[in-house]
Amino acid sequence: MERKYLIEYVSVTEAAAAASAVLVGMGRKNDADALAVGAMRRAFDRIDARGKVVIGEGEMDEAPMLFIGEVVGPENPSLPMFDIAVDPLEGTNLCAKDQPGAITTLAVAEEGKLLAAPDMYMDKIATGPAGRGVIDLDCSPRDNVVALAKALARPVCDIGVVVLERPRHEHIVEELRHAGARVSLISDGDVAPAVAAALPNTGVHMMIGRGGAPEGVLAAAALRALGGEFQARLFCEDDAQRDRAISMGIDDPSAKLARDEIVRGDCIFSATGVTSGKLLRGARRRGDTVDLHSFIADSKTGSRRYVETTIRLDML
Ligand code: FBP
Repeated sequence: MERKYLIEYVSVTEAAAAASAVLVGMGRKNDADALAVGAMRRAFDRIDARGKVVIGEGEMDEAPMLFIGEVVGPENPSLPMFDIAVDPLEGTNLCAKDQPGAITTLAVAEEGKLLAAPDMYMDKIATGPAGRGVIDLDCSPRDNVVALAKALARPVCDIGVVVLERPRHEHIVEELRHAGARVSLISDGDVAPAVAAALPNTGVHMMIGRGGAPEGVLAAAALRALGGEFQARLFCEDDAQRDRAISMGIDDPSAKLARDEIVRGDCIFSATGVTSGKLLRGARRRGDTVDLHSFIADSKTGSRRYVETTIRLDML
């Protein structure tokens, strides 16, 4: 993927963040999401490439825009075609309640190289590069945090683990704390902490637990670009979900998925802050402009960039 696409695709998450930032703290999560979706959809049309939405807002009959299978970008068949995963507003409640960690995010990969994950739960574990060959989704949270601490040459009490605060995760939290790790509980938004686990000075070394499968694909793309570790397994709640996964091309829905089975080939990951969190600063409105903070990672070069941008709201 050419380098020019880094700046092109970061402009897409920027547009979504600028649009949804207008509703931070307003208690209107669906409206904030709709603004992000619309801005993201329009921003794709300004890019010199087309993209097929593999991870999107839902099926064609569920979502007016950015639905699975939709082709975005200019109607020019000579332009390159990529696979696209989007989460126009990751952490809709965080945005509505002005709580930390809402982001807008996308991943771009070569055509046919992103896993078409259905909208269901997925068990996930994410770490930085030190966790590769060291952690294992099938091992206990305790064994994983101890192994990661050893690989990082730190005491377990220096390891920060982010977990979604849910009753289903109580045993994980208990086990991690018993092992001596620091556990940071979040109410929503597990993509940003998975990415933060692969970056220095975030205080996050691992993200573990069950969350959305679409969000897992976005995290896998980021960790592929950053050289971090990501493992996952779909959690099918019934036969219908199992059949759905199979119909989307996942032959064995109970199989453990490695990072590079979820995202193959070159990929780009981009995210822009809506509210401040461990990964990014939130969007800041100043009159008719908005200051934005974004992160973009490219698997081809291994580069990662933080970008600060000011955009005019009337240009969205
Ligand atoms: P939104 O779809 O409201 O933005 O929520 C996103 C999210 O918090 C993800 O980050 C996470 O993977 C998932 O929802 C958790 O789902 P649940 O709230 O059902 O536990």
